[in-house]
Amino acid sequence: MVCRHQELREAGRETAFTIEASRLTFGRDCLDELGERAAALGLRRVALFTDRTLVALPHHDRAHHSLRRAGLEVVTFDEVEIEPTDASIAEAARFARDVQPDGYVSLGGGSVIDTAKLADLLAEHGGPLSRWIAAPWGEAVAVPGPLAPHLACPTTCGTGSEVTGIAVFDLLAHEVKTGVASPWLRPTEALVDPECTRTLPRQVVAASGMDVLSHALESFTARPFTARAAAARATARPLSQGRNPWSDLGCAAALQVLGRHLVDGVCEPDAIDAREQLAWAASLAGIAFGNAGVHGPHGMAYAVAGRVRDYHCDGYPAGAMVPHGIAVIVSAPAVFRHTAATDPARHLQAAAWLGADVRDATPADAGAVLSARLVELMRALSLPNGLCGVGYHAEDVPALASATAPQARLLDNAPCLLDRAALEQLFTAALRYW
Ligand SMILES: [Fe+2]
Repeated sequence: MVCRHQELREAGRETAFTIEASRLTFGRDCLDELGERAAALGLRRVALFTDRTLVALPHHDRAHHSLRRAGLEVVTFDEVEIEPTDASIAEAARFARDVQPDGYVSLGGGSVIDTAKLADLLAEHGGPLSRWIAAPWGEAVAVPGPLAPHLACPTTCGTGSEVTGIAVFDLLAHEVKTGVASPWLRPTEALVDPECTRTLPRQVVAASGMDVLSHALESFTARPFTARAAAARATARPLSQGRNPWSDLGCAAALQVLGRHLVDGVCEPDAIDAREQLAWAASLAGIAFGNAGVHGPHGMAYAVAGRVRDYHCDGYPAGAMVPHGIAVIVSAPAVFRHTAATDPARHLQAAAWLGADVRDATPADAGAVLSARLVELMRALSLPNGLCGVGYHAEDVPALASATAPQARLLDNAPCLLDRAALEQLFTAALRYW
């Protein structure tokens, strides 16, 4: 009799998975540990990356004070752009090369953390940025080794960037979001202080909460790691390795926390306990998706955000922009309805964790039940009604599908084929939900 392991080996499939994670400190007021932790890494001169809004908030003073109290010299870069671009990252890298810090602190949302990752990369290993960008837009050269230490301090309850080796930005010439992915980009330490979420506008919590939800749901429903061809070398196993027993643990816990606390964390004023739970879900889902990978909704979101015309969301800086979490969630109900047939039990279980009543549901109902629960949550959080809600129309579908089709890193991680025809069908289904 041939065992499953033997079968996989003979078929050239993966038989193992690798787990990597940043050192994580989680809890209220842990931002005050920043200086001591940076000093313990041997740092003396740190570049503190943040944005112009945050630099005026108390979290910035706390971080700065903690670093100074530990005897560190601090040079601040507060020009990070929300939804960074290759141009804004080049500016950040110029700063890093000029001031030559021996380590980095990022204080902010995913945009700040991702900008610090890439400035660190470009200062340490040189550029241009296109050298490190995934194909087809970049040369996809592997990052050759460690970067300078980076302590990431998220101030939103979303993204999970503080524990992943992925950095995302707009590539202006191609009107797409793309990214760099490498285990070396993963911050050395993450300090997640839920107190930082106290001042967040409601729509920012809603968008980042939906980003977390989709990280967990996409990783939980990704193709299994055993469906991938075995890596040529042990160290070449990709971050998007597919769902695995470790990522399932984080996704399951994150989805249950979100099912209980997402709506309160967004809608209740002063709901710091619920926001603390959302921050915890973000860390759980971040560690999970950083070791499994996301798929359809994130791949489609890059085109949705990259081709924005005039949509603007309250709580974000002026100008046209689809916040990342909104760009992701507008397609999610359509995608999960489509992928449910690959594993109905998994999709039904996720729907139940998110609060759906699945008592009378059959496997054939899984896609409709999960999709309906996602739409309910979108409405409860006053989020846009699908692609139409962020300014797209049926005639935009071919261009959105064309811009998404090359996102192989993400689309290949889906549990079923998402080719151009499937993407057109999904974008069409995502135009409007109610
Ligand atoms: Fe995301």
